[in-house]
Amino acid sequence: MKSGVRRQVLDLMCRQMMAGSSGGRAPFGVEELKLLREALLSQNLCCIDGQMVSQFERRYAFDYGVPYAVASTSGTAAIHIALGALDLNPGDEVITAPITDMGTIIPIISQGLIPVFADVDQTLNMDPASVAARITPRTKAILAVHLFGNPCDMDAMVAVARRHGIPLIEDCAQAHFTEYKGRFVGTIGDIGCYSFQQSKHMTTGDGGMTITSNPAYHERMKLFADKGYARKGWGDRAYLFHAPNYRMTELVGAVGLAQLGKVRGVIEKRRQLAGQLTGLLSKISGVQPAAVTAGAKPSYWQYAFDVPGVPAEKVAAEMARQKVWAMAGYTGKPIYLCSESLTGKKTYGTSQWPFNTNPGVTYEYTEGLCPIAEARLKHLVTVPIDESSSPSYIQRVADVVGKTMEALAKGTTVAVAARPAPAPAAAPRAAAAGKVRVAIVGCGQMGRWHLDSYKTDPRAEVVAFVDTARDRAEAFARETGGRAYTSHLDMLANEKLDAVSLCSVPSTHRNITVDLLRAGAHVLCEKPLAVTVAEAEEMSRMAKAQNRLLVTAFKFRFNDEVRKAKELIDSGSLGRILNFRLMFGGYIDMRGQWYGQKALAGGGIIMDNGPHAADLIRYLFGSEIKSVTAQVSHIQSLEVEDTAKLDVCLTNETFGTADVSWSVRIPPKSYLEIYGEDGAATLDGEGISYRFKTYSEWKREPNTVDVKGAFARQIQYFVGATLGDNPLGLGNGEGLASQRVIEAAYGSVQKGRRVDVDAGTLVAV
Ligand SMILES: Cc1ncc(COP(=O)(O)O)c(C=O)c1O
Repeated sequence: MKSGVRRQVLDLMCRQMMAGSSGGRAPFGVEELKLLREALLSQNLCCIDGQMVSQFERRYAFDYGVPYAVASTSGTAAIHIALGALDLNPGDEVITAPITDMGTIIPIISQGLIPVFADVDQTLNMDPASVAARITPRTKAILAVHLFGNPCDMDAMVAVARRHGIPLIEDCAQAHFTEYKGRFVGTIGDIGCYSFQQSKHMTTGDGGMTITSNPAYHERMKLFADKGYARKGWGDRAYLFHAPNYRMTELVGAVGLAQLGKVRGVIEKRRQLAGQLTGLLSKISGVQPAAVTAGAKPSYWQYAFDVPGVPAEKVAAEMARQKVWAMAGYTGKPIYLCSESLTGKKTYGTSQWPFNTNPGVTYEYTEGLCPIAEARLKHLVTVPIDESSSPSYIQRVADVVGKTMEALAKGTTVAVAARPAPAPAAAPRAAAAGKVRVAIVGCGQMGRWHLDSYKTDPRAEVVAFVDTARDRAEAFARETGGRAYTSHLDMLANEKLDAVSLCSVPSTHRNITVDLLRAGAHVLCEKPLAVTVAEAEEMSRMAKAQNRLLVTAFKFRFNDEVRKAKELIDSGSLGRILNFRLMFGGYIDMRGQWYGQKALAGGGIIMDNGPHAADLIRYLFGSEIKSVTAQVSHIQSLEVEDTAKLDVCLTNETFGTADVSWSVRIPPKSYLEIYGEDGAATLDGEGISYRFKTYSEWKREPNTVDVKGAFARQIQYFVGATLGDNPLGLGNGEGLASQRVIEAAYGSVQKGRRVDVDAGTLVAV
């Protein structure tokens, strides 16, 4: 084949091979494939005798207008190489940024140096004035970080460095081809470092580059990346100093070379998109668009904006609800609070080295080191925008930010349109209209929660209310313009309903549910689903026969702390779950209330709170409860138990305790403790705390919505499910499974021993 034709065939093959790569950002294509092929065909993938990495280094240096570049395995390695080139002594201090990736700090500590953090200016970059203030006789380098692709005030930074005769390294991991007064960052100080990690403007998956104009630094950089190995002219083996092996492979070099050809276009696109976003965000009250340093052309690694006075988590969570991904606070806290290598001085064994190398000087990495950075991060939101984003997406981001800020200012949330419903499993009558006609049976305390939540969902129209006390039903009806009834049968005779919330006393659940299902309504039944397993089974069979949903109101599933715990457990972060302790407690005087009457409630605290406990346990630990040992006490002298302890064992061998009580005067701070082989978590009404065995700090994730908000999520989910959108597949299985646990618990109390839970057969819709 002639070479021209061969090239065309190869081109076509490459294009076909790269076709069908995933949507969204697609940094790699034919160019990378061709160079990779070339690298492979050379039959040598080590850079020492290869062509790719050396070409990549030469081209990189050329594009930045400097004489030298040394490739390496990561941005972290690139910074380590820069520090290695300075040849400092252990205990020397390096002033750096409080807002950065850990990859900035690791090389400092690895090299036996001590990071000293300067506070930030209005651009969130290190403030040169703060740098100057933190210089001591021990300061031997400044490591400036150009955050989010926006440069530091380099005139002032260089002035500080020169005034003190201190070398200036630039961490440009996020700032490829960022310009400061017409010069590329990385070429203004003494050494520049870049990362090619996947998220960066140009990427090799992982990789790094260190550049300089200083031949002496270059000499040491080359050696430092290659074990200190003096390969030429020093005899067989000569290692000139202690150094790692950070050599880039030829495969990575090939991809890097191809990426270098594209990166300027990538940055141009990001600048256009960021310009659009800045224009749109600057019109939104309460938002400060991404900072731009005077004289700079940023390259926008991520787009970061400020929401002064508003918690960034709230903004990010509300944006996420509207399906625009945003992150609160970048690293959340300044980097010196993120790593136990600093907070706990966990470095080399128990030595705490190098933090103890300067006699009489102590280093503590605690809150308060950089107060401006700490405060700013609380109100910083980042949105990933990249070259694959479209102007219409940017418009959407801005719209969502606008709506979010407006809603948060009013203390509300933005109504989110339902996902288009797939073909419903159970065809509801109102599906075509997209409106769900709802009734509430039982207008007491729980009915109120349901009504308030339905009001948050524009798809729901609450049209009827039932209560044996007419005035209560009428009071609810007046709020919505619906009709009041004293009997559910009267209501069914008069109303066409799609869904009903059943909030009456448990002893009535079976009869009313059967009537509702027979009339074709979907049912959301307050717990317990029924008072016996036999009843629950009958209700489930009816739901199946009628092809209607019968969902038990297990509200905990919709709490943020529960969702996060489920995520931690499912991802294996806590390891195998060994045991847990659940406590639903608090004092409620049940004398004279229906809860204390067996005929109405079906039982005591086990019937009341046991279903929530059983459902939460089954849901979180992903396994059925296999046996229960229950004990009860009667502190309030009711005919039913008011305090109980349920020891449960799951089929996956996890076991734990559920304590439930109406008589506990001081409820626990956290209601659930989970202990796994690799970590632990505690859940409370305001959030979740968790710790991994490899990390001594407890992490805290506060909830983004309160209990009312979480309850509303449950109702919104039910409304969506009646329209056929039931991604969690909730149905009658949950209520029935909990009922079996409750019945086993009462059996255990009666028999005074452990009782196996009848697995039964779940009747799924
Ligand atoms: C500012 C900064 N410095 C250093 C690094 C470390 O780079 P790498 O992850 O390639 O080791 C990163 C990576 O995200 C970074 O953002």
